[in-house]
Amino acid sequence: MLSTTMLKSDREHCILGIETSCDETGVALYCTRRGLLAHALHSQVALHSRYGGVVPELASRDHVRRLLPLLDTVLERAGASAGTIDAIAYTEGPGLAGALLVGASFAHAAAYALEVPVLGIHHLEAHLLSPLMAAPALGFPFVALLVSGGHSQLMRVSGLGDYALLGETLDDAAGEAFDKVARLLGLGFPGGPALQRLAEQGDPQAFEMPVAMARDPGLDFSFSGLKTALVYLCRDLGPEGVEERRADLAAGFQAAAVGQLTSKLKRALKRGEWQAVALGGGVAANGPLREAVAALCEEQGLRLKLVPLALCTDNAAMIASAARYAPRLEYPEYLSYDAFASSRPPLPA
Ligand code: KG4
Ligand code: ZN
Repeated sequence: MLSTTMLKSDREHCILGIETSCDETGVALYCTRRGLLAHALHSQVALHSRYGGVVPELASRDHVRRLLPLLDTVLERAGASAGTIDAIAYTEGPGLAGALLVGASFAHAAAYALEVPVLGIHHLEAHLLSPLMAAPALGFPFVALLVSGGHSQLMRVSGLGDYALLGETLDDAAGEAFDKVARLLGLGFPGGPALQRLAEQGDPQAFEMPVAMARDPGLDFSFSGLKTALVYLCRDLGPEGVEERRADLAAGFQAAAVGQLTSKLKRALKRGEWQAVALGGGVAANGPLREAVAALCEEQGLRLKLVPLALCTDNAAMIASAARYAPRLEYPEYLSYDAFASSRPPLPA
């Protein structure tokens, strides 16, 4: 578990981060005093696009190919050498088992060669703490809205390692819903960014969309009803009608999804005293969502921490920077370490 006690060190530590949980290969170098020195990403989008989703076997093999060249790029961009690295952090899980094992093996081998400790990082905890990357002074407690392709959660962050789940999706994750609807509208994978672009030309009011979970007093989300409504709308419109109204359908879906996320966030804000709101995960790159959350925070007089666009989706900078709070495992203790495919504490499955 991550904790502030790990910060107590009188010298700067430079941590190499490795991210291979899904279809992005990421490498980053983060130093405890100077911050993020460099990061590099290779997206496998083109590799998986014709399958309409990530193919685990292809993902693992591509991570093997990309890691070393990305490491060279990062060291060059940072003006650093392997000797700068004091520790190696990698995504331990959750994610695709084979893909995670590539990153885990790479991290362990490099740590062994460089004689430095290795640190296993929880992918979701890294997303959750990524708003702290550039602003360590963010006050606790804050509400984090974590929305990605695999998860949609509202969390109370009371301190490092001290998280409480306020609400989560009962079915599809927000990003998964964006991807599925985008597919329905004939857009590529991942669908979120393409759907956002298409929605810019559409009228969000053109179709009536179901308001999911509106009467539910809790803080959980649900996106499957909205997705099903789109399936029926497309069926009724027929292929030509869908082609004609794609932008309106995209705009309607996006407005309903963003509306649901922000109304649950608003409800969470009423249930406590908060220092700030943090928005993270791949869907946090969505422009209308960023604007709606910013407007809500302004209305409520709350500080908002937005993760920079480039660091919202999976990346190694968040892994390396979260690792500054991680307990170090020295050789041979770290050899017992593994990858985990599904989530585990301190974050929910
Ligand atoms: O955090 P992430 O990179 O990977 C997971 O851990 O899942 O999130 C990827 C998800 C995808 O579902 C993608 O469609 C969505 O984030 N996404 C977006 C946008 N950019 C990425 N969704 C809506 N609007 C965007 N601009
Ligand atoms: Zn992620």
